[in-house]
Amino acid sequence: MTRVLGIETSCDETAAAVVARDKDDTPRILSNIVLSQIDAHAAFGGVVPEIAARAHVEALDGVIEAALTEAGATLDEMDGIAATAGPGLIGGLIVGLTTGKAIAAALGKPLVPVNHLEGHALTARLTDGLDFPYLLLLVSGGHTQIVHVAGLGQYERWASTIDDALGEAFDKTAKLLSLPYPGGPSVERAAKNGHSARFAFPRPMKGEARPDFSFSGLKTAVRRAASELAPLSQADVADLCASFQAAVTESLADRVMHSLNRFRETHPELQEPALVVAGGVAANQAIRGALDELCRQAGFRLVAPPLKLCGDNAAMIAWAGLERLEAGMLPENALAFAPRPRW
Ligand code: KG4
Ligand code: ZN
Repeated sequence: MTRVLGIETSCDETAAAVVARDKDDTPRILSNIVLSQIDAHAAFGGVVPEIAARAHVEALDGVIEAALTEAGATLDEMDGIAATAGPGLIGGLIVGLTTGKAIAAALGKPLVPVNHLEGHALTARLTDGLDFPYLLLLVSGGHTQIVHVAGLGQYERWASTIDDALGEAFDKTAKLLSLPYPGGPSVERAAKNGHSARFAFPRPMKGEARPDFSFSGLKTAVRRAASELAPLSQADVADLCASFQAAVTESLADRVMHSLNRFRETHPELQEPALVVAGGVAANQAIRGALDELCRQAGFRLVAPPLKLCGDNAAMIAWAGLERLEAGMLPENALAFAPRPRW
């Protein structure tokens, strides 16, 4: 059995988790503690880096202790310590990575510096035991990309956003409609009572030959419609949200289809290839529904990790660390590994 403690502090979640691979090869999440800082940032309508870093310093020791307690394990029983080394906010990365280094050095155990995006990319192997290769759609507050996952450490980006990330578009739209932070869940909630056909917002990039995403024009269209209507009634806000979400979903589906086709051509040997969706926006039910339908049409299997593992968490960091540890894929002199905000 291999057991790894994971630490995640790259944004506004202070998280620690213990994952293991059993003797019979089954991946297990022994604990998964996520302490959200949402309340600390809500008044500012977004994450304030300095506040985030200080909150990580205050919370991390307790969160690690809670993760060990819930796992019924001690630090001595860990085979390695994994910590997010980037990309993310530098203050938080320093807190988490330095803590990981200190624990690893004190125990004489290996430290695995983990790329946060690799954590998202490998989550489906932890939750669904998925085999390589597969196609990954990563949609979060900071990233919107499609990645060809060929093997451990073998990632090729096939598409990315040319402007805003999808979660960012949700967050900015919420802000301009005065909906509470974080914006994604607020917009989805408001959209439930709205008419998606009321506003004919653009479907960015739809039908284009290049595979990429774009969302900033859409946000501008919402702003224009909102300022023409002001002051906004509750029904206006609901209709704007529903129309925005419909436009985003249609644009996303078109872009994903583009890469599904490429994946088919790349891997004619696969009977039913998998599309994995990860990142906080994967919690959106309308988007999940559209991806489900798309996969059915294209003969793909949609693999969506449970909601708790879609957003930022440390189980995915511990798991990426475990895979790298078992494969012997550690950087030279890991204890000297510097945090990489733009990794
Ligand atoms: O992966 P994540 O927890 O953090 C990173 O950005 O790495 O993703 C957070 C993003 C935020 O932009 C949030 O508004 C968005 O995911 N989000 C959603 C929903 N829940 C979270 N967007 C749309 N619909 C949702 N239900
Ligand atoms: Zn993330």
